[in-house]
Amino acid sequence: MEEATQNEENSNPQTQPLSKNAQKKLLKQQKFEAKKAEKKAQMKEQKQRDAERKRKEWEEKLAGLTEEERQKLIDSRKELRRERMEKRSEERGLKIERLTKAKDNGQNIVVDLEFSHLMTHSEIHSLVQQIMYCYAVNGRCSTPAHLWLTGCQGELETQLQRLPGFDKWIIEKENQSYIQTFSEQKDNLVYLTADSETVLDELDPSKVYIVGGLVDRNRWKGITMKKAEEQGIQTAKLPIGTYMKMSSSQVLTVNQVIEILLKFLETRDWKTSFFQVIPQRKRSEADSENCQELDGEECREENEEFERKKKRSEAESENCRELDGEECKEENEESERTKKCIEVGSHD
Ligand SMILES: C[S@@+](CC[C@H](N)C(=O)[O-])C[C@H]1O[C@@H](n2cnc3c(N)ncnc32)[C@H](O)[C@@H]1O
Repeated sequence: MEEATQNEENSNPQTQPLSKNAQKKLLKQQKFEAKKAEKKAQMKEQKQRDAERKRKEWEEKLAGLTEEERQKLIDSRKELRRERMEKRSEERGLKIERLTKAKDNGQNIVVDLEFSHLMTHSEIHSLVQQIMYCYAVNGRCSTPAHLWLTGCQGELETQLQRLPGFDKWIIEKENQSYIQTFSEQKDNLVYLTADSETVLDELDPSKVYIVGGLVDRNRWKGITMKKAEEQGIQTAKLPIGTYMKMSSSQVLTVNQVIEILLKFLETRDWKTSFFQVIPQRKRSEADSENCQELDGEECREENEEFERKKKRSEAESENCRELDGEECKEENEESERTKKCIEVGSHD
């Protein structure tokens, strides 16, 4: 009985002692998480200080005015705010129109969410943030794609559902896999993977392009290629090498790949799309053929950069620079309601 328990423990990877390498990695990861939490707390404090400072400035400004001047200033701010809200609501209406149209005739792009068991909690969180970002970018496109989330289950689904407004997104959410969802069109499925031999030269409206929903710090090299081969579906890689030399691997993040596809749908120009989306620091004069895969540290930097940009644009959308305390509060409530996260700005 005891022996059986022992064997069970030995076969359970969670109870096995970690190798030195794994311990080092875990420590690095923990330090990274702690640093991230610390930064988050600092940013929150800074935001509170800024809001307080602005409120004081506004009150001081009002205090130095006559009753009539004060009323005039308040009214002009209110008018400004009303115009801004009106503009925002108009933009929202147009966005809904574009996304609804894309449902019928837009390019189908799938994010394959069947890899959640291979990701840590924070990697899943990062993927959810990337999806949120992709949805926002797609909404701003003049020719949006029709986005699908397939294999949407478990923690990933829970985290997605926690996003404010997610249930109203104009997107297809499927619990089942893309193979089941598109069982009638298997020949039209094209898995995008940096490991493919086939180079994508055009986007074919009749095809369904699949992007692996994976934030793996490149632990799972070749996993999407293997999956597509096993399923007997077509694969293709982005034609990065034709237009750009990279300082590291050509494996991009989910949001970068989707943003490139969206840019291409608008411009029909790969070069422009790559140069607008791929960060400068990932480009190089060196021959991309000789480049190494992204290591964990670079991936972390990439994620950190994404977090920074996303936060900055969230902050911008919430910015109450020209509002008084009360309006600022209303503005924040409004942006909460209208899902501030959907309006996140551009990444890299
Ligand atoms: C962070 S990568 C995941 C890398 C993963 N190890 C794999 O084997 O796919 C996220 C997804 O973006 C897509 N992707 C990344 N770089 C690409 C490239 N150069 N060409 C085509 N698709 C790419 C792939 O669908 C990939 O699964």
